[in-house]
Amino acid sequence: MIDVTALTRTYGGLRAVDDVTFSAQPGRVTGFLGPNGAGKSTTMRVMVGLTPATSGSATVLGRKYADLPNPGREVGVLLDASAQHAGRTGRETLRVAARTMGLPMSRVDELLDLVSLTGTEAERRVKNYSLGMRQRLGIATALIGDPEVLILDEPANGLDPAGIRWMRDLLRGFANKGGTVLLSSHLLHEIEVIADDLVVIGQGRIVAQGTKAELLASAGTLVRSTAIEELAQALEQRGVTAVASGRDALRAEAEADLVGQVALAAGVPLTELRAADGAGLEEMFLELTADTSREGAAA
Ligand SMILES: Nc1ncnc2c1ncn2[C@@H]1O[C@H](COP(=O)(O)OP(=O)(O)OP(=O)(O)O)[C@@H](O)[C@H]1O
Ligand SMILES: [Mg+2]
Repeated sequence: MIDVTALTRTYGGLRAVDDVTFSAQPGRVTGFLGPNGAGKSTTMRVMVGLTPATSGSATVLGRKYADLPNPGREVGVLLDASAQHAGRTGRETLRVAARTMGLPMSRVDELLDLVSLTGTEAERRVKNYSLGMRQRLGIATALIGDPEVLILDEPANGLDPAGIRWMRDLLRGFANKGGTVLLSSHLLHEIEVIADDLVVIGQGRIVAQGTKAELLASAGTLVRSTAIEELAQALEQRGVTAVASGRDALRAEAEADLVGQVALAAGVPLTELRAADGAGLEEMFLELTADTSREGAAA
């Protein structure tokens, strides 16, 4: 469980995080989504006590991170994978983590195995690691204390497609066992496939939050028909807003069952009827962050 309440962090005149409130629940993967510079890393840094809040608070398992007795056993953290000690080998990095947390050394090999770093790779110095290898080592460090909560900043960064799939399954398994996962990304698709809940941030402010299902529902219903004009008319008469979505299709701001009923009553044949998905969420993300993203601001 992570609770962020009215959190603000300013740097000089810049409100990097501006009155942010959200929570991440146990048993769920919460995606923290926002364009570059939105304030994701800053929020996460405050959560783990690396940056003080200007006002407001962030607690993990009901306490400030600094007040947790053995934080590594309760919260697994991956912020900047490149910030690991460059001169240590991967194995040494995990041994230090295990020793600090009072864990048996057998955990080191277990975790190397889990993140698929080979014995030879584990003997190499971190400064010679590829980005993906650093990321795997960072995930291993986050998991070694068998924590209840994971806070991961752009964990998929640098992972190959198989690595991304592996991480997704790992986080899903972690949440299914009752763990709390908060992961950030600036890539919607990455978050969309894994997250149960979404928190969308732009220029330091929360612009949307809710379950993925809710946010998808607000993207509306995609309906396709060979008589699209009649359908558009029938929807309009029912007071349902609908916009063209490519050829022969509409995106209607209503649940699928209502759209289906309207079509039936109007005698319009449908060739497709479903929740507007991915594209809808992507449009929403771009819309929500349009005022706050660089490209949107320039337009
Ligand atoms: N130590 C700092 N000093 C001054 N400004 C900072 C500092 N850290 C972050 N910022 C500013 O705060 C804002 C939010 O940065 P942050 O790193 O939290 O964004 P982000 O959402 O993680 O972006 P990205 O997707 O690029 O990682 C940016 O404008 C950034 O320049
Ligand atoms: Mg960041």
